Amino acid sequence: MLTIKNLNVQVLDQEIIKDFNLNMKDGEIHALMGPNGVGKSTICKAIMKSPEYQITNGIITFNEKVINNLNTDEISKLGIYYISQNPTTIEGVTNAEMLRMALNARREEKLNIFEFNKKCNEICEKINLPKNFLHRAINDGMSGGERKKNELLHLWMLEPKLILLDELDSGLDIDALKIVSSSIMEYYKEKKPSILIITHHNQILEEIKPDWVHILKNGHIIKSGEKSLALEIEKSGFKEYL
Ligand SMILES: Nc1ncnc2c1ncn2[C@@H]1O[C@H](COP(=O)(O)OP(=O)(O)O)[C@@H](O)[C@H]1O
Ligand SMILES: [Mg+2]
Repeated sequence: MLTIKNLNVQVLDQEIIKDFNLNMKDGEIHALMGPNGVGKSTICKAIMKSPEYQITNGIITFNEKVINNLNTDEISKLGIYYISQNPTTIEGVTNAEMLRMALNARREEKLNIFEFNKKCNEICEKINLPKNFLHRAINDGMSGGERKKNELLHLWMLEPKLILLDELDSGLDIDALKIVSSSIMEYYKEKKPSILIITHHNQILEEIKPDWVHILKNGHIIKSGEKSLALEIEKSGFKEYL
């Protein structure tokens, strides 16, 4: 469903990703691991077409459609959702406003407001998020844990087919991480999306269990394996791969 071929990405004229290849099938969970600064987030941002991340070579296809030339808006409409390491604050736009706009942008007919409110309320209950969060500006004044929970609200409302999960554990204590990751797994079991999870810890992979683990070095994947590869890294660190 996601195929990345010979991808090169530049940030500020510096080549960060070089000849990167990845092939994910429907419903698969892939973990991308590697030490700080190797370019893990850069890959997500290039997929989402964040403007500072320039694709200088390669092809990204999503469900057989080339998406390199699309903008962020079009990419998210296709059903790709990025949960960033530090979810951005958007002052002046509430969760409810953004979600209604995003859902309406994907449909011919406008979403019935009663149905929308019903779904919002059901999801708040499901993820144990106070309902007043619906009327708060996106991530504004929220703690690290609340931001990630707020992302869960977006996830369940927008129902993406591919989730890019960038260091879900950053800003979360152990209990909050458990809550957030088990909600993501509940979503996975219900909707069967594909997940690309970025982490340097094996612990989170006990919850969100990958089918494949890849190690990133020098801008591309230097080793792939099954879940046991993440365990090896937990024991010996990345030094073997540096
Ligand atoms: N917006 C940016 N401006 C300048 N440099 C950047 C930017 N984004 C990433 N980089 C640089 O690209 C490299 C890879 O960063 P990143 O993808 O965030 O690494 P990782 O997620 O693996 O820790 C780093 O050297 C980082 O400083
Ligand atoms: Mg990162």
